[in-house]
Amino acid sequence: MAIVLKDTVIKYPVFLSPMAGVSDYPFRSLCRLHGAFFTCTEMISARAIQYGDIKTALLAKLYPDEKPIAMQLFGSEPDILAKAAYKIASCSYRGYESAILPAAIDINMGCPVKKVVNNGEGSALMRDPDIIYKIVKAVCSASDIPVTVKMRAGWDASHLNAPECALAAESAGAALVCVHGRTREQMYSPPVNLDIIKAVKKAVKIPVIGNGGIYDPDDAVKMMRETSCDGVAIARGARGNPRIFAQIIAKMKGETPYYPTAGEILDDAVRHLCLLIENKGEPSALQEARGHLIWYVKGMRGASLFREEINRARDKQRFFDLIEKIREENT
Ligand SMILES: Cc1cc2nc3c(=O)[nH]c(=O)nc-3n(C[C@H](O)[C@H](O)[C@H](O)COP(=O)(O)O)c2cc1C
Repeated sequence: MAIVLKDTVIKYPVFLSPMAGVSDYPFRSLCRLHGAFFTCTEMISARAIQYGDIKTALLAKLYPDEKPIAMQLFGSEPDILAKAAYKIASCSYRGYESAILPAAIDINMGCPVKKVVNNGEGSALMRDPDIIYKIVKAVCSASDIPVTVKMRAGWDASHLNAPECALAAESAGAALVCVHGRTREQMYSPPVNLDIIKAVKKAVKIPVIGNGGIYDPDDAVKMMRETSCDGVAIARGARGNPRIFAQIIAKMKGETPYYPTAGEILDDAVRHLCLLIENKGEPSALQEARGHLIWYVKGMRGASLFREEINRARDKQRFFDLIEKIREENT
């Protein structure tokens, strides 16, 4: 079951999938606290690293307690991606202050957003397996850090070429591939194509991580059973629910997953809010916390009023008070 990436042993391969605007350091920390051993940064522009962009240096910052973590880069030009990987690996990126090196450099081949795709980046790369080969080859030669790839099922229903793309990545030196079982055309809508993940697993020898539509331990077990993939990656299922990692790992071990009470979910919400304030300060932390907190209270009594009130709240004490108010209603 364990996956080995150079000197990183991933005993229970239940990954936190990258989410731009969500999987920042506070969110990653909370997921790690609840069992996510291997996390990933939000997607980071290789071009911005190449230009020495300072804001991007903050996105790329890795903290000492984050080992092991992957850094995800996006781009379309092999030499720019390779130079960015080199800068990260050699810490020669101006303004970049990471305390640790990433355990993997992940290349984004799944982003469906128009702005990205129109630049030939993200899922657009899957239209040309040759460019995938060139990119992975170039990034592999830039440093000793293992290179992984995150892709989709294909561009659309008539181009389900993930196995071919995964083979291109593997032959260029990729150490692992993560497959989101939806096409670019589907964006984030169901269904998740398990057959294509299974086909990738059959096509390559490197570990294959399945991704898409995992919201509870049963979904994870079903994906692993039906595709034979080596592990799973969770994105939206972790929003407001960082304990999903420990739950899936418990299921993998044959144990009974623990489902938190409303009070424990709200404890996580408070912890998340504190981490955001500590890491980003006000007012950014409060602005970002709104989206997260709404996920934590989803399905609780008083959730819709909470949503309205949190959107009007202006200071951190009000945020904490509103969490306590909904706690009273639900315990
Ligand atoms: C808000 C959001 C941001 C995302 N950002 C990234 C990203 O930066 N890099 C990436 O490879 N995938 C990104 N994804 C895709 C997820 O990692 C994942 O592949 C997809 O959501 C399917 O998994 P899920 O069904 O568990 O959500 C993002 C998804 C969401 C919802």
